[in-house]
Amino acid sequence: MSETANPAGQTPSVAPKHPRNIVVGVSGGIAAYKAAHLVRNLKEHGDDVRVVPTEAALNFVGAATFEALSGHPVSTTVFDAVDEVQHVNIGQHADAVVVAPATADVIARIAAGRADDLLTATVLVATCPVIVVPAMHTEMWFNPATRDNVATLRRRGITVMEPAHGRLTGKDTGPGRLPEPEQIAELVRTRLAGIDINYDWQGLKVLISAGGTQEDLDPVRFIGNRSSGRQGFALAEIASQRGADVTIVAGNTVDLQTPSGAEIVNIVSTSELKAEMDSRARDADIVIMSAAVSDYRPASVASSKMKKGTNDDALSTLHMTENPDILKGLVAAREQGEISQETTIVGFAAETGDEKSSPLELAQAKFQRKGCDVLMANDVSEGKVFGNVNNEGWILTKELEPRTVAHGTKQVVAAQILDVVNEIRHEAGA
Ligand code: C5P
Repeated sequence: MSETANPAGQTPSVAPKHPRNIVVGVSGGIAAYKAAHLVRNLKEHGDDVRVVPTEAALNFVGAATFEALSGHPVSTTVFDAVDEVQHVNIGQHADAVVVAPATADVIARIAAGRADDLLTATVLVATCPVIVVPAMHTEMWFNPATRDNVATLRRRGITVMEPAHGRLTGKDTGPGRLPEPEQIAELVRTRLAGIDINYDWQGLKVLISAGGTQEDLDPVRFIGNRSSGRQGFALAEIASQRGADVTIVAGNTVDLQTPSGAEIVNIVSTSELKAEMDSRARDADIVIMSAAVSDYRPASVASSKMKKGTNDDALSTLHMTENPDILKGLVAAREQGEISQETTIVGFAAETGDEKSSPLELAQAKFQRKGCDVLMANDVSEGKVFGNVNNEGWILTKELEPRTVAHGTKQVVAAQILDVVNEIRHEAGA
């Protein structure tokens, strides 16, 4: 654990500081052009950015681009602005250092503790969170030398992002692609919020439902909900960065980037979601039901479009049938031994409260009814949460008082939920 570690499940107590000083290190890979978007994203969120490229990076993107976007001069060597002692100053004053793209070469140099240019000197000086974002060909990523170097960095508390799978330079596809700049920036902000991301879930299988279900009325109409899928995708991103094998069973979502390395299975209706969750949960160590599932579906689905004047009865009065409760079904399957006793099951509760009970009280009652191990409760009144990039609420577990989750990005909330999952799995000896 690095010195930024937060106690599991506790809201980090790092005071927000703005603007924060973020150093973007850029090394010499073709993905260097994406660093320009990363700089822009970080600046647009109000942070100050300083770009430190390697010599090789400037073969791909000119210093002028980085200077214009960051508003700071750019140099690659420790021999520029020597009077300002740049080679230590930049690292000392950084709140976060992100190296994106990080080539196999720069990863090796960082692992070896070298300081033969301004970027590696800066990383060596930095005591703040360091995020390294590899981009290279699959063969280089899987080379034992790179594997060892990445493991060394992770052991030292550096967050090494899992690369995305996809198109590489040339015709190849595979793991090694730079994640999208927005994903990198979000992870940097999560580390800046005081969240530590340990690579401790290697070999664990995590199954996450996300987004909203849609229940057909006829070929053109459906009943759906406002879920964006952001919370589920944020959980997938953090689980993936912890090293887990992640599958997302996704209903309707807004346009979201696939978390690095995660597999996505698309579904539309509750019955499709149930079929996927029931079969895949048998193989999962952690199951998270963050999807917003329709409690009811139309009792019948018209095979052709219903029309005013012809189907007025059906259009004016909907007859609905109750959907099965997938979460409860998963808990029951575990009780019956169809799913391993060691599988951790997490549910969500979106509550608005009513005249008699607060959102937290309703969530506590739901937690008892559902029988899952962890429940993330949200207050969704007044348009909060759904579709929003932020979330807040309470994490409920069997043994403990509710833990309050302060307002934060869905990724920061996700990291706290997964810390609680980790804690209860360790307590259970998993
Ligand atoms: O009962 P309610 O819909 O509020 O429960 C919310 C939790 O139950 C969420 O985790 C949701 O994914 C899950 N759920 C389910 N099957 C349903 C309805 C909700 O698994 N039919």
